[in-house]
Amino acid sequence: MDFPMFHLDWLNNRMLIAGIATLHVIINHGLAVGFIPLVTWLEQKGLRRSGTNQITDLEWDEKVYKMMKVAFIITTTIGAMTGVGIWFSASLISPSSIGSLIRVFYWAWFTEWIVFVTEVILIMIYFLSWKKSNSSLRAKIRHIRFGWFLAIASWITMTIIVAILGFMMDPGNWNSNPNLINGFTNPLYLPQLAFRTPMAMLMAGVFGLLLATIFTKYGTKIRQDAVKSISKWIILWAPFTLFGAVWYYKAIPEGMTANMSTAVGTMDFAQYYGLLKYFIIGGVSLSVVIAVIGLFKAKVIRPYMVVLPVVFAFAFLGFFERVREFVRKPYVIGQYMYSNLLLEEDMVVYQQDGILKHATYTSVNEVTDDNKLEAGKNIFMLACSRCHTGQGVNSVVDVFERMYNNGQPLHVDMMTAYIPNMHFGRNYMPPFPGNEAEAEALAIYIRHLQDSGESIEGVQTEGVMINSDYTVKAVINKQNKTNDNEDDK
Ligand code: HEC
Repeated sequence: MDFPMFHLDWLNNRMLIAGIATLHVIINHGLAVGFIPLVTWLEQKGLRRSGTNQITDLEWDEKVYKMMKVAFIITTTIGAMTGVGIWFSASLISPSSIGSLIRVFYWAWFTEWIVFVTEVILIMIYFLSWKKSNSSLRAKIRHIRFGWFLAIASWITMTIIVAILGFMMDPGNWNSNPNLINGFTNPLYLPQLAFRTPMAMLMAGVFGLLLATIFTKYGTKIRQDAVKSISKWIILWAPFTLFGAVWYYKAIPEGMTANMSTAVGTMDFAQYYGLLKYFIIGGVSLSVVIAVIGLFKAKVIRPYMVVLPVVFAFAFLGFFERVREFVRKPYVIGQYMYSNLLLEEDMVVYQQDGILKHATYTSVNEVTDDNKLEAGKNIFMLACSRCHTGQGVNSVVDVFERMYNNGQPLHVDMMTAYIPNMHFGRNYMPPFPGNEAEAEALAIYIRHLQDSGESIEGVQTEGVMINSDYTVKAVINKQNKTNDNEDDK
């Protein structure tokens, strides 16, 4: 509303953020937060395996170094780029919500940035000084200490970001008493942290197991020892993952069901919850199965056997993020801002006056007899485009066709009647933020999209249009007028 609307009509705007963010989270959890402590722990084990006149078991150390090399390359390239990519995509697609979050979490993000830079410096030191540190025992011990510092720094970045993720789902008492501490201590913060931490360790474990089997030869003692150690790691973290998942799972419905207005909507959410449960059990138990085999029959483990647990654990986290995104709807920030970037408290005004009147970026500022199509397009951009496209993923034409008769021409009257009530029953959608004339204009536009097969262009191709009430000229004119009036008095 306060920003021009960037729009991707085939991909769907949310998918752009989702794709980048999911990749980032998988790399962050599996190859940084969980992986660094695993690698450091394994490096430390090398010291204990060494002979009396050795600093460390050099063959073992070499393999652990190789594992770290994979993590180093991926985290500092795709990991770092997708991290920045989240900022780019989110500020294009959801600028108002990012704006609000920055205002609330300014100092948290400030701190996070410092910790992140520290993390980057430490990962450089840790990886690049590895070989050199094998020259003396003191250097090696110092190197291992850097590994642990790095592990702590990676985890601290998680503790900060999780607060923001939890906040978006359920801000708790922040809505009545907005400040940083209340935002930070939201009801989902601890459960989500208690789940993500061991989940990261578990993912790192299965991925580490895969790498360890790839980097060692079948039948060697070093492979068996590595498989055994990493299996222990997985088995250690698995129960914490389950515990965290249950705690988190219990925390969401309580936080979210409170604002679910109808039972039908709950059904939709319930389906996702149901699936999530199986994904958690499946993802964790597959990892545990391979780890138990690894612990007792390390000899039999081969790389291809570990591929499935890795895929499952990573896919599970991806699915988890999807559910987390979905249950938050219709809000982008719980009970505060809807996913179409409109504030809940402003809704009544839009429904009374119409949204066009208050929009900063629109080519028309009210519905008239001859601008209905254009008005409809502007309303679609403001009210629906963050979740729907014209012709692509979750297309508004498709959802209406599915609801009424497939393939038949859509009825403008039926749609006009439906739109003001769309949040009843489907409470993943916000209420319609407009008046009756606007609902009709929107319906006419949707029918036009169906007939023409036209795809919708965002400001990046169409250019920015400013509400004629808010142009510089209009504002100056208005000021002059009020000044004149005052002079008259
Ligand atoms: C917060 C995101 C969001 C916003 C904003 C939103 N929708 Fe939806 N809408 C959805 C989702 C998600 C679905 C379900 C899609 C599915 O089931 O595949 C949906 C489904 C629908 C359906 C089908 C409902 C049914 O019962 O099958 C219609 C019609 C619809 N949307 C119209 C609109 C219109 C018109 C607007 C703008 C005024 C809008 N939506 C705004 C997310 C949103």
